[in-house]
Amino acid sequence: MNILLVGSGGREHALAWKIAASPKVRRLVAAPGNPGMARQAELRDVAATDVAGLVALAHEIAADLVVIGPESAVAAGLADALAADGVPCFGPTAQAGQLESSKAFTKAFADRYGLPTSAYETCETAAAAKAALDRFTPPYVVKADGLAAGKGVVIATERAEAEAAIDDAFGGRFGAAGARVVIEEFLEGEIGSLFALCDGRDSMLFGWAQDHKRAFDGEQGPNTGGMGTYSPAPVFTPQLVGQVRERLAEPAFAGIAADGAPYRGVLFVELMATREGPKLVEFNVRFGDPECQVLMLRLESDLVPYLEACAHGRLGEMPPPVWRDEHAVCVVLAAKGYPEAPAAGGEIRGADADFGPDVVVLHAGTRRNADGTLRAAGGRVLNVCARGATLREARDRAYAATAKIDFPDGFCRTDIGWRALG
Ligand code: GLY
Repeated sequence: MNILLVGSGGREHALAWKIAASPKVRRLVAAPGNPGMARQAELRDVAATDVAGLVALAHEIAADLVVIGPESAVAAGLADALAADGVPCFGPTAQAGQLESSKAFTKAFADRYGLPTSAYETCETAAAAKAALDRFTPPYVVKADGLAAGKGVVIATERAEAEAAIDDAFGGRFGAAGARVVIEEFLEGEIGSLFALCDGRDSMLFGWAQDHKRAFDGEQGPNTGGMGTYSPAPVFTPQLVGQVRERLAEPAFAGIAADGAPYRGVLFVELMATREGPKLVEFNVRFGDPECQVLMLRLESDLVPYLEACAHGRLGEMPPPVWRDEHAVCVVLAAKGYPEAPAAGGEIRGADADFGPDVVVLHAGTRRNADGTLRAAGGRVLNVCARGATLREARDRAYAATAKIDFPDGFCRTDIGWRALG
């Protein structure tokens, strides 16, 4: 079959790596892709939000399936446009995509369908948001309503910092995404990322992992899109997994279908494991980045039949996925200055070396110059991923490979997996 994969980050490189290994695939085209993905896919320079361009490309390559990676393509309505043209697609409609594209929508959705989540207020002006802070206790959680690439969330211990975050959002730092702000109660507990597939009717759990959101070791520094992941994560006991499925994932699929937007694709449930059980932090309408990377390293089953089953309403015929009985770790190499002002253009050497069968170096924000050098072209630049019989072995392999990559303008956290390893 012919597959068009949309996106250009580390998540999409992980998907390309796994899709290309499927015996079902004859041709894999990535748009726009990245230099690392050129090893698995033909790259075509069409942006993830260029809906008309992507629909045309899907027809040109006679795509049997389009796989949407990033939320920006969901919000742009790519799945809707492909459905109108009869092209099978893994990824939800823009209406269902509001579960990620508007935090205010998701909070109201959670209230409507009884999903456990934190107390919140949605505010239309900076003055209203600052007044709302009176009704919360620190640390204050301030979220821009719309899509902000993981950077629209500020957790502030001081009121002045919370007010500055409110001013930033309404001042245009995130464009239209900051036109509304949600103030939330801070949840105590351990964070987790759980994934579930849905074909519009049937659903299935599809793995879990733990991310590290802060930029620096010891959970210090600003929030990021994610600095590293590991899977499995001990926080996901069988009891917690069952509770997340019953209290968050399944009610979300039922609720969004009742709203007239049956969900097709993967739902990323970001949750806090609290003393009262799991509470929703947020939904994302795509695989996590860099959660996808560790899931793909651990997935034994062929991914493609699951993507197809979601697109064709046949998930109920599929067995649960099989996972390797191994651990996986992903270390994000980011450009210095990320997330605020990542240094652009730094040279990277050694990323394409052979690190052995249990290490995979995935590209995220990279570009290849005409002289053949590899350069940083984004905040999160490379994802160094490894498998091992134990979490420690996987982590040691990932860091040993990271040490061999020469990226003077880059940095990484050195404590990925600390919650499990101490
Ligand atoms: N790693 C968190 C996210 O993908 O949003």
